[in-house]
Amino acid sequence: AKLLVLHGPNLNLLGTREPEVYGRTTLAQIDADLAQRAQAAGHQLESLQSNAEHVLVDRIQATREDGTAFALVNPAGFTHTSVAIRDALAAVALPFIEVHLSNPHAREPFRRTSYFSDLAVGVVAGFGAASYLLALDAALLRLSNNTA
Ligand code: DQA
Repeated sequence: AKLLVLHGPNLNLLGTREPEVYGRTTLAQIDADLAQRAQAAGHQLESLQSNAEHVLVDRIQATREDGTAFALVNPAGFTHTSVAIRDALAAVALPFIEVHLSNPHAREPFRRTSYFSDLAVGVVAGFGAASYLLALDAALLRLSNNTA
């Protein structure tokens, strides 16, 4: 199956961005690990990072035509603000797991609100770069059970 990973704003800075919160693994490393693991399981995985809300909305809309079966989404700062990205995911009915490196519930109060969690199949948060790999495992399990 085709899997899509979406990373929101500032995640291009992973590795140097507040490493005490987000760790030292770069986004390129995370994406390479995810692609390798998906491929080993017989799937294809594409990643996209954008700092722009409309780029993420457009990519989500495009999944209607490109056969994407499942997504991992870290909306980053847009988690707490973006009705538009939420609406795009709802519009295309793309099943997805919400991913966070940090545990937003253990941080500032404004991070406790997510526009995504109630639409998501599930949420993986708080495990640093491993959050993405744990989410991928959950996605692969779902795909193998045919319940994407
Ligand atoms: C984040 C958590 C968000 O609150 C924050 O705005 C981010 C990253 C995470 O992965 O921990 O940019 O989504």
